Amino acid sequence: MIAMGTAVVVGGASGIGLATARALAAEGYAVTIADINVDAARSAADEIGTTARAVALDVTDEDSVAAGFDGLDDLRVVVSCAGLTVPGALTELSLADWQTTIDVCLTGSFLILKHAGQRIVDGGSIVVISSLNARQPGTAMGAYCSAKAGVSMLVEVAALELAPRRIRVNAIQPGVVDTPLTAGLALVPGLMDEYVDNTPLGRSGRPEEIADMAVFLASDKAAWITGAAFDVNGGAHLQRYPNVLGRVQAMMP
Ligand SMILES: NC(=O)c1ccc[n+]([C@@H]2O[C@H](COP(=O)([O-])OP(=O)(O)OC[C@H]3O[C@@H](n4cnc5c(N)ncnc54)[C@H](O)[C@@H]3O)[C@@H](O)[C@H]2O)c1
Repeated sequence: MIAMGTAVVVGGASGIGLATARALAAEGYAVTIADINVDAARSAADEIGTTARAVALDVTDEDSVAAGFDGLDDLRVVVSCAGLTVPGALTELSLADWQTTIDVCLTGSFLILKHAGQRIVDGGSIVVISSLNARQPGTAMGAYCSAKAGVSMLVEVAALELAPRRIRVNAIQPGVVDTPLTAGLALVPGLMDEYVDNTPLGRSGRPEEIADMAVFLASDKAAWITGAAFDVNGGAHLQRYPNVLGRVQAMMP
């Protein structure tokens, strides 16, 4: 296999990030899995093999992000996957819960773009996982929708600023994908059905289907693509977002 240089997958210990780490390793990259859950990152690196390594990194802590990118040789690809959501109606959501989502999803993306942009080689590729919610509003999703809309715009600014070094920066906006992040949706009666009903291709996504787009964007086949956001969602952006708040309220006694 041809050695492709180094790739970092932030949030690579689970779900979409883990699938992306596996896919980049299969392409010949030496993959660093950077995650706040360092035990899971180590297990993932062990599973991938000797070319992979794990590092503890918290995207909300600038020193941790800077240290995570330290000493990497020939850094060619960075995929930023860390994310979470604390749902809640805007009239009920605490400032702390708003801040948690904004810190991880939006400020975390800024810190990754900042430090990846400093360290990546000229001609490298950065991919940030945004969301369908960057363009489609959903009840109870105010913090997440705002953060992800910000992420997709941040990617456009980064693409402009890094273009002189031929570094490409793109976003992927997944619809609902089966990962630990979305496992809880099944606990809300009817909610997963509503996601699928609003997905023209009639199913949720697999993490590997997002990883495939990340690998494409990392590759030379995407050499003329930057500042773009790709909807990988079975067509869900063509319909409406499920009424998460309504479904949760319907569960209440
Ligand atoms: N699963 C979906 O339906 C879906 C849809 C659209 C967008 N996304 C986005 O895709 C990305 C990956 O989500 P996923 O579904 O694979 O979730 P996941 O929970 O399976 O994986 C997220 C990973 O991020 C890590 N992480 C969380 N906070 C972190 C922090 N502060 N610093 C470093 N790492 C941190 C977690 O430890 C975990 O390994 C997220 O940005 C999410 O918002 C997911």
